[in-house]
Amino acid sequence: MITIRAPGKVILYGEHAVVYGEPALAMAINKYLYVTARARDDNKININARDLRLAGISVTISEGGDVVAKTDYGAVISALSYVKRAIELAMEYLDKKVGIDLEIRSEMPVGAGLGTSAAVAVATILAYAKELGYDIDKRELSRLAWQVEKDVQGSASPTDTTMATFGGIMYIKPEGNNTVMEPVKPGANVPLIIGYVPRISTTKDLVAMVRRKYEIMRNIIEPIIKSIGLITKKGREALEMGDLELMGTLMNINHGLLDALGVSTRQLNDMVYAARHAGALGSKLTGAGGGGCMIALSDRIEVEKAIELTGGSVLRAGLDTNGATIISND
Ligand code: PMV
Repeated sequence: MITIRAPGKVILYGEHAVVYGEPALAMAINKYLYVTARARDDNKININARDLRLAGISVTISEGGDVVAKTDYGAVISALSYVKRAIELAMEYLDKKVGIDLEIRSEMPVGAGLGTSAAVAVATILAYAKELGYDIDKRELSRLAWQVEKDVQGSASPTDTTMATFGGIMYIKPEGNNTVMEPVKPGANVPLIIGYVPRISTTKDLVAMVRRKYEIMRNIIEPIIKSIGLITKKGREALEMGDLELMGTLMNINHGLLDALGVSTRQLNDMVYAARHAGALGSKLTGAGGGGCMIALSDRIEVEKAIELTGGSVLRAGLDTNGATIISND
């Protein structure tokens, strides 16, 4: 039996602008998704994932070798589809199909933009390989997990799967069809308080909404996107110097520009302003917006309380430097 954990991530600066070729800065957080795997001696795959609201789903390998998932309720399919595809790709990659029991736990809200689907893909592939006695190179792991996201979602950037695999902080630079990721060494601890509310729009819809605005009024939207790119570059420097005050100021400007693009919501803005009022050095929405998560640069309990008072839930996070890791093997 083996247990793997993979971290979630937040975007410190640059979401949406990164779609237009600007850089972004992402940080793996010390909040984890855990996958425990135990090989079976039949061909059944059982997934127990209470925290993902997937209890009681049974998945089997059919006569033809396909992984077949059965569930009664549709909402579950989306999260389950990442697990299912991850097992299929791991089986294909290792050229070995065996039954397995998987138990999945998450310390993060699922589907809130913290990269839980990437973490589940990474941890599932690694758990399956390790439980069968195979080693898998992190670059291969990251590539396979990205393939899971692309297969399930249609398209995906490699950001979340890279963060869940390698951890740390990455400066993400789109270059043509490629995305280059440079590890960044922080000059100080980056204490974050994450606030979250349910999402009312999907990443896909929000990206499309910004695109429509860009096409209709490019001369107005383009400078906003370019400014976000400049903020990300400056934010990287501030992080490397350990200048938290400057980082906070840049977060505030970044949030204002994201709001200008129309991807924030009243609840996100309430959390963002409550956090600043309670003494956070800076705060912004993180990820695609439309509800979901915000980050506040702070470790103050007052900031947590202020976010909660607006109706948000709270999670405290720091940096994860390990990425996907085996935490027990027996
Ligand atoms: O919500 P998330 O964490 O998946 O972030 C989406 C980030 C966007 O820039 C809005 C989209 C993207 O593909 O980069």
